[in-house]
Amino acid sequence: MSVQDKEKWNRKYTEKPTLLERRPPSPMLVSHLHLIDGNCALDIACGSGRHTRFLAENGFCVDAVDISSVALEQLSKTLNNNSVTLIEADLDNYTPHEGRYDLAVMTNYLDRPLIGRTAQSLKSGAHFFIETYMAHPQNEKKDSNPDFLLNAGELKTFFGQNFTVIAYEEFWNEAYELYKMRKQSIMIKKK
Ligand SMILES: C[S@@+](CC[C@H](N)C(=O)[O-])C[C@H]1O[C@@H](n2cnc3c(N)ncnc32)[C@H](O)[C@@H]1O
Repeated sequence: MSVQDKEKWNRKYTEKPTLLERRPPSPMLVSHLHLIDGNCALDIACGSGRHTRFLAENGFCVDAVDISSVALEQLSKTLNNNSVTLIEADLDNYTPHEGRYDLAVMTNYLDRPLIGRTAQSLKSGAHFFIETYMAHPQNEKKDSNPDFLLNAGELKTFFGQNFTVIAYEEFWNEAYELYKMRKQSIMIKKK
């Protein structure tokens, strides 16, 4: 496990506890949930678990992966059923179980090689929802690492003929976030 990433995120969550507050799930995920066939989900870099909790409340079993023990501990306190498996792991070296999931979610986190590994973890007919920040001249946070920002239209370029784009959007982020930032989201389906 990358000790530095773990320490960095544990410090962030400890110093800014507002990051651990309950937040609503992404509207695109909510509006497409009825399309998901099956109930086995993966939440990548789940943080304090806005999507893990939402999916568990809607009948999914969720494998929730994050490097931060602080975030996972907070999430465990808010769960009231045992359909969630919390996994403390470094996603840089994590390969989700092949062909296991009906839905994978990766939000506010960008690891381009992991997108390919996660696509392998989807069953045929499964969905993959990705939503994260993109580069934009009007982003308020000017010191973001450009490696962790999407380019315009980039999410559509990751998936070949074996996938169908169900929805795609670029938009300004939610008001509760610390900085105004442009975001991009995609819901795709594996054939
Ligand atoms: C901005 S939060 C996103 C939380 C959640 N997905 C959401 O949308 O609300 C990013 C998360 O990525 C986790 N993270 C960062 N680097 C990681 C790594 N190498 N392996 C696993 N998790 C990591 C952090 O601990 C943090 O919880």
